[in-house]
Amino acid sequence: MAQQIILSTSICDELTALCDTKADKLFVLTDTTTHEKCLPLLSGCEALKEAVHIVIGATDTHKTLDTLAYVWQQLGHGGGSRHSLMVCLGGGMVTDLGGFAASTFKRGIRFINIPTTLLAMVDAAVGGKTGINFGGLKNEIGVFNESQAVVINTQFLQTLDAENIRSGYAEMLKHALLSGGDLLARHLDFDLANPDLPRLQKMVAESIKVKEAIVKADPHEHGLRKALNLGHTFGHALESLALEQDRAVLHGYAVAWGLVCELYLSCTLRQFPESVMRQCVKFIRDYYGTFDFECKAYDHLYDLMRHDKKNQAGVINFTLLNGVGDIALDCHATQNDVYEAFDFLREA
Ligand code: GLY
Repeated sequence: MAQQIILSTSICDELTALCDTKADKLFVLTDTTTHEKCLPLLSGCEALKEAVHIVIGATDTHKTLDTLAYVWQQLGHGGGSRHSLMVCLGGGMVTDLGGFAASTFKRGIRFINIPTTLLAMVDAAVGGKTGINFGGLKNEIGVFNESQAVVINTQFLQTLDAENIRSGYAEMLKHALLSGGDLLARHLDFDLANPDLPRLQKMVAESIKVKEAIVKADPHEHGLRKALNLGHTFGHALESLALEQDRAVLHGYAVAWGLVCELYLSCTLRQFPESVMRQCVKFIRDYYGTFDFECKAYDHLYDLMRHDKKNQAGVINFTLLNGVGDIALDCHATQNDVYEAFDFLREA
């Protein structure tokens, strides 16, 4: 059954409809941040009155086997059965780990995602990727399993700081580049310094539709879903480098800088229009700044890219664009091309 995406107007009513009588026990998973900042927004929900609460540590450092085991344990201690239902209230860490815990507890119970960050609304909570980090690798263990529903309620955006809005917006920019029409122009026209939340809310709905259509066509990433990796081949390497150097950056910032590099390759290796690339680069430079790194980091960054789990036989696989909405999957580039893209990012 396809994942139901609900653009929420009254979250308690929607939860009442979703938390039907079929569930013998209800669990709500939060992390320490969403427990404090987001759960109070659901305090009037009758449907959650009897729910058992499970709270885990916040941030990606808790996306571990230990935390997963803790959630399984709490589901067991709380009387969870195969007929129970878990509500995952949080950012991508909570929806990824919670989705994996629910998918594996007693061979799988139903779960509902209520994403509370922009990044999770437009990306992590939609499309059925669940998992944890393992052995130093991000999202190394997990399964594809869609939540019963994703409830998008943009009142949670008010709990976010400016950096987290920008981080999620980078994935929206990616969706706009992947889709044709005027979506990209409207995204480049948005004032991220003073985000208009009602306007953003409409754009979130459009952005999710782009991802939904891609996931529907290729749920398990054998082909078209690889398009969603645009910006991520460079982005993941930059994110890892920043983490190693103790100056961690938000995922969306790394994706935005990754887009700069991959749009550059789209221009040099495909036929992506340079003028559109320049507009995107300006938007990214204005709102995401630049990432400071030296030429001596190039070899290491290249190595990180070669070890990305999305590659086959050690050859780096890129998603590039021939034009806006014209996707080129499984592209290759020489080491020299990649180093030129690093130069371009540093000079942009
Ligand atoms: N975040 C990319 C995907 O869901 O495939």
